[in-house]
Amino acid sequence: ASGPAFAAAPRRVPFGSAIQAEYFDDAGYRALFRDHCDIVLPMNELKFDLVHPEREVFAFEPADRLVDFATENGKRSRGHTVVWWNGVPPWLAALNDPREIETELRRHVDAVVGRYAGRLESWDVCNEVVAHEAPYDAPMRDSFWQRALGSRHIPIAFRAVAGADPKAKLVLNDYDLEFRGERYDRRRASIVEIARQLQDAAIRIDAVGIQGHLYADQAVDIEALGRFGEALKRMGIALIVTELDVIDWKISGGPAGQDAAAAKSVGDLLEGVFAAGPPLAVIAWGMTDRHSWVDDVMPHGDGTPSRPLPFDATGRPKHWFRLIEKRL
Ligand code: G3I
Repeated sequence: ASGPAFAAAPRRVPFGSAIQAEYFDDAGYRALFRDHCDIVLPMNELKFDLVHPEREVFAFEPADRLVDFATENGKRSRGHTVVWWNGVPPWLAALNDPREIETELRRHVDAVVGRYAGRLESWDVCNEVVAHEAPYDAPMRDSFWQRALGSRHIPIAFRAVAGADPKAKLVLNDYDLEFRGERYDRRRASIVEIARQLQDAAIRIDAVGIQGHLYADQAVDIEALGRFGEALKRMGIALIVTELDVIDWKISGGPAGQDAAAAKSVGDLLEGVFAAGPPLAVIAWGMTDRHSWVDDVMPHGDGTPSRPLPFDATGRPKHWFRLIEKRL
């Protein structure tokens, strides 16, 4: 009989990636997810404005298609995202009455989280709620939700998701949590503070999502990340890497130099994250540079294609993907 003599050992920590409906018809693209991922999740299709575009209209088909693809191929999946400053649909943004907005948030969660209950192992309940603008010391980011409901929108959302899918792990997801510098120390401290407030109110939070949009020229603070993970661990909160990729525009030396720098960034991130023990998962924000969200959303000024993802445009794994394979 032919075939492999032994199967590859399963990963201790699952690896996954976000898939996009736009590129789903590309069989080679789909194959990368099928061949290399344990978790496959919709990148955009569960966002508020896409899944709930009008007050009485839900558009589940694109997300269904991607979640079905995951389950049919034996993959796990997860939900991204409920509360976010971006992607607030116009019908919702037009509302003014806080009570009405709170009711609509609960209705949204019951419909969307409820529909996928049991199929998505975790949800990014709140995404990017920590302040972004200078001086970076207001803990909360300005957003539709913050303006409408104040910071209590966070406990409202966590409680609602827990109610709609009691088994889903509840994640507080954010970016710029891994770099060196005071600004990033403050962002890490804000996350710990928000998590503490949830727990003080007896609301469950299972994990903090480190998006992991890395820049190959920006240092990851391994020690600070380790302390952050330890502080959360003491609170019973795990880490999960949710949107890993590496922007390498500023690195010279061509693809070889860029790949080496990217691998260093990812290696540092993994070291910092694993300091508190294995994370729930490591998830990339796409698989191949052939279909890169960066080129869609924030293309490089001079038109150079970006190279943020684990496989290059020809489908070859980069050094940093090999590193992930080794570590997970
Ligand atoms: O599909 C349409 C296409 O038909 C149209 O021609 C084109 C013109 O703008 O837009 C295409 O849709 C875009 C879609 O990405 C598909 O690429 C949307 O405009 C664009 O807004 C959307 O951007 C997504 C962005 O979030 C906003 O939702 C990106 O794919 C997605 O990667 C990005 O993901 C975020 C995470 O949710 C949160 N963390 C940061 C991360 C990166 O910004």
